[in-house]
Amino acid sequence: MEKFSTSGPIKEKNGVFITTYGCQMNVNDTERMFSLLEMSNYTPVTSADQASLIKINSCSVREKPVHKVHSEVGRYRKLKEMNPNLKIGVAGCVAQQEKKRLIADIPLLDFVVGTDAIDQLPELVNKLDREKQVSARFEYQKPYQIETLIRNPGVSTFVNITKGCDNFCTFCVVPFTRGRERSRKAQELIQDIQKLVDRGVKEVTLLGQNVNSYKSECGADFADLLRLVATETNIQRIRYTTSHPKDFNQKLVDIMQEHREKVCEYIHLPVQSGNSQVLDRMNRNYTREEYIQKVKMIERAIPGVVLSTDIIVGFPGETDEQFEDTLSLLDEVSYESIYAFKYSPRPFTKAAQFTDQVDEQIKSERLNRLFAKHDEIARKLCKKYEGQTLEVLVEEVNAEGRAFGRSTQNKVVHFNGTNALVGQTVAVKVIEAFPQTMRGELKN
Ligand code: 5AD
Ligand code: SF4
Repeated sequence: MEKFSTSGPIKEKNGVFITTYGCQMNVNDTERMFSLLEMSNYTPVTSADQASLIKINSCSVREKPVHKVHSEVGRYRKLKEMNPNLKIGVAGCVAQQEKKRLIADIPLLDFVVGTDAIDQLPELVNKLDREKQVSARFEYQKPYQIETLIRNPGVSTFVNITKGCDNFCTFCVVPFTRGRERSRKAQELIQDIQKLVDRGVKEVTLLGQNVNSYKSECGADFADLLRLVATETNIQRIRYTTSHPKDFNQKLVDIMQEHREKVCEYIHLPVQSGNSQVLDRMNRNYTREEYIQKVKMIERAIPGVVLSTDIIVGFPGETDEQFEDTLSLLDEVSYESIYAFKYSPRPFTKAAQFTDQVDEQIKSERLNRLFAKHDEIARKLCKKYEGQTLEVLVEEVNAEGRAFGRSTQNKVVHFNGTNALVGQTVAVKVIEAFPQTMRGELKN
C-alpha cells in the first residue's frame, strides 16, 4: 500500500505531523485534518521530531494494517520519552474498526479518530489535555455538508462528492469502515468548486467510492451534477472517480460528450473479474457481458476514451478457468492501465467467511501472469500517442526546466518548459510514449 508523507514547511510549537496510507480518499482526509488543525493553531511540520501531535492515517482496504500501526507508533517511543506532552493518534479505517483494541494494545497511543469523526478532531485534541486516552464518537453526527477543506489546492485537486458505500461487494471493507453512502448537496459542491477556481484551481476530480450513485437532496444524479459543474463553475477540467459499472449509464456518457471541452475522456471502471460467476459471488451486480456492453456504449459515445480498471485475483473459489476469463477480458477491453491485487480477506466481509480461499502462491502466480499480459498490451497501446499533440495542463516545473502535466486522457507528460507555464494548458507533441509516462516537446 502506498505511503504518502503530507506535511508543511515550518517548525512551530504546535507542530502536527501526519503519515498517510492508502487511497485518494485517505489523502483527502489528511488534507481535511490538516485544515481543521490549522484552524486550531497547529502548523504542519516536515518530520515527526518537530511535532507535538503525530497522526497515522491508516487504511485497511487491502492489507492487515494493525501491525503497521503498532510498529509505526513504536518508532515514536523515543520522541514520547523525550517529550511527554507529545500526543500520538491513529485516524482512518483502522481507527474506525479497531478503536478499542488499539487503545488497549498500544499504551503509547493517546487517541483514535474514525473516518466519520474527522470533523470532531479539534474538539478531541483539546480534550486530550484533560483526559489521557480519548476516542471520538463514531456515530455520524452531522450531515455531510462541510466546505471542501484544502490547504494548498495547486492546479488540480480532489473534491469529495459522496462518502461511504452501500454496495457491500463481498470482498470490501469500505461499507464497514466508511459507513452508509451520503451525498453532498449539489449546490454546495458548485460553490466549493467555484471557490477553488477563484484560488487558482484548473482541474477537479470528483471523488466518491461509487460516484455513479450520487444523489443530491434536490434530486440531481451524478450526470446532472457533472453538467452543473461544467455549466455553473469556471473550472477548466473535470474528472471523476470511482465508477461502478452497474450504475454507469447512457445519460452520463451523453453528458460527458456534451461537455467534452471540460469533462476529460478518461474513465476508471473497476471490473474486478472477467468471470460472471465470480462477479456474482463478489456481489458486483453485473455480468462479464453486461460490463462489455457498457464499455461499448462508452466507446461509441466518447471517441478516444481511455479506460483503466481494478482487478482482484484469487478471489475465494476462483478456478484456473475463471481466472483465464479475466485474462481474456484484457483482449476484449483495451485498458491502458490496470490496478490489480491479490484477494485479501478483510474483517466483517462475507468473502472472508467463504471456505474456498485460494492458496497464496496461486494468487501470486495469477497476479504475475495478469501484469505480464497487460504490460505487453499497454506497451502497444501507448505507441498510438507518439506523434500526437496532447492538451497538457502543466502541474509543476522544476529548477532545471523539466515540466510535467497531465493530458485530458490522464497521461503524465514530461517536457521542457518554464515556471510561467504552471496552471496553463499547453499543446505538447509526444516524442516517446511508455505505458505510465510520456516524453514530449512544447508546440508553439
Ligand atoms: N482484496 C484485494 N483487493 C481489494 N480491493 C478492495 N478490497 C480488496 C480485498 N479485500 C481492491 C478492489 C477495489 C480497489 C480499491 O481495491 O479492486 O476496486
Ligand atoms: Fe467497496 Fe464495492 Fe463499495 Fe467499491 S462499490 S467501495 S468495492 S463495496
